[in-house]
Amino acid sequence: MTSNDQYVLVTGANSGLGLGTCCRLIDEYLASHKSVEHSLTIVFTTRSARKGADTLAALEKHLARHSHPSRRRVYFQPENVELTSLLSIRALSRKLLASELPHLNAIVLNAGIGGWSGLNWLEAVRSFLTQIRQSTTWPTYKLGLVGLVTKPQFPPGESEGHEPLLGEVFCANTFGHYMLVHWLMPLFRACPGESPGKIIWSTSIEADSHHYHPEDHQALRSDAAYEHTKRMGDLLALTAVNQPATAKQVKEYTTSSPSLGSGRSRPIESDPVFLLSHPGICTTTIISLFWIIHECYRLGIYLARWFGSPWANVTAYLGAASATWLALASPADIKAKWIEALGDDGGGGPCKWGSSVDRFGHSDVRVTDVAGWGLNGSGKPFRDKWWGGSLGRKTGSTDATEEDVAEFITQGAQVWDKMEVLRREWEARIERYEAEQSMRSNGHVKT
Ligand SMILES: NC(=O)c1ccc[n+]([C@@H]2O[C@H](COP(=O)([O-])OP(=O)(O)OC[C@H]3O[C@@H](n4cnc5c(N)ncnc54)[C@H](OP(=O)(O)O)[C@@H]3O)[C@@H](O)[C@H]2O)c1
Repeated sequence: MTSNDQYVLVTGANSGLGLGTCCRLIDEYLASHKSVEHSLTIVFTTRSARKGADTLAALEKHLARHSHPSRRRVYFQPENVELTSLLSIRALSRKLLASELPHLNAIVLNAGIGGWSGLNWLEAVRSFLTQIRQSTTWPTYKLGLVGLVTKPQFPPGESEGHEPLLGEVFCANTFGHYMLVHWLMPLFRACPGESPGKIIWSTSIEADSHHYHPEDHQALRSDAAYEHTKRMGDLLALTAVNQPATAKQVKEYTTSSPSLGSGRSRPIESDPVFLLSHPGICTTTIISLFWIIHECYRLGIYLARWFGSPWANVTAYLGAASATWLALASPADIKAKWIEALGDDGGGGPCKWGSSVDRFGHSDVRVTDVAGWGLNGSGKPFRDKWWGGSLGRKTGSTDATEEDVAEFITQGAQVWDKMEVLRREWEARIERYEAEQSMRSNGHVKT
């Protein structure tokens, strides 16, 4: 293993965007790294051994399209994790830390659930017929389930005292990933300083400022838990960089991970960077639709694309453009694209990078407007952008003012605070549980 070997972890890889990201990683890596001395290992997670085997077969088939010498430079490592189970995340983290992986260059936090019960059909048909671009990109007709919670985190009778609830959508989309990244931190921090490990949050273009409610952090009372968790991802990723308001929490999160008894030490070379992507709109199984409805939805997204929506990717492969690019790009490439997109190097913070497409299906990665943050938190007006007008932007959106950005950072700091509190509480519970288990297995039963 040399510094020419890259390691990328993708969660939720057996379908939709996760599978699209792995396929695209293969293609883009082989197109951009021609040297036989360079290799890529894709560590991918699914929820069962069967799904892992099926995904491996699909990826091997995709890789077989490339010429033989190229193929030998891409490797796959299937892993299992259930993101609504902190013990499962802990087990995967322990396994990877104890493995021969020298470092992880990037993680794509892709897995997720919608938590929807269905659609409001009347509203869906009305909005499809009257505003196809807006309707497919910012749907107002999904029906969210309220109060979904995970299964208990510990086996019956094994947790001391009352175990607090964990929101299922919150845990699958945000908190599970948050804990996974924290526990895997030694692998990210082992990346060389000139190319630090990349934590790539994958959120959604739908997330808006009204979706996150600090008083309902786990979205247990919300009928828009999905959008809430996606907004939380935006807040976490965009305020992680160079913000005094979050610096303490980010530092604590990135530097205080336990060793998890891996016995394998790795050098601390760098601190990871936080990046943000979204896949635009794609037809996947995240929402369960009868096949004919699914096909109508697909046609609706194609129509949105032909009417000029830059986010109507339709396929998962196109939707995977932004996360794949971020995972493989060097810091200099990302900076260059940032300058190209924003027209100058005149300050401002990070961007939300979206997978975009033109009417002919040509794929690209573009900066996306974020409510309250704008393009990069600098107050740069949206009208300066390539698409101009309202294409690619939610109806009624306005440019983020200085006050909006200040409010966004304040809310980002609140999210970081709450996530850190929750992390520490759950870590303490898990440590007590593990200590108890270890005493039992050593024959010391607590009386
Ligand atoms: N499709 C879109 O237009 C769109 C738009 C914006 C954002 N996104 C985001 O893209 C990501 C992928 O979604 P998708 O559209 O590709 O949907 P998908 O095809 O349903 O894929 C979701 C993946 O996440 C896995 N997953 C779900 N819950 C999990 C859990 N508790 N633990 C571990 N893995 C879990 C699923 O595994 P199983 O197969 O075992 O369930 C599956 O591999 C999501 O974060 C979604 O929010 C999608």
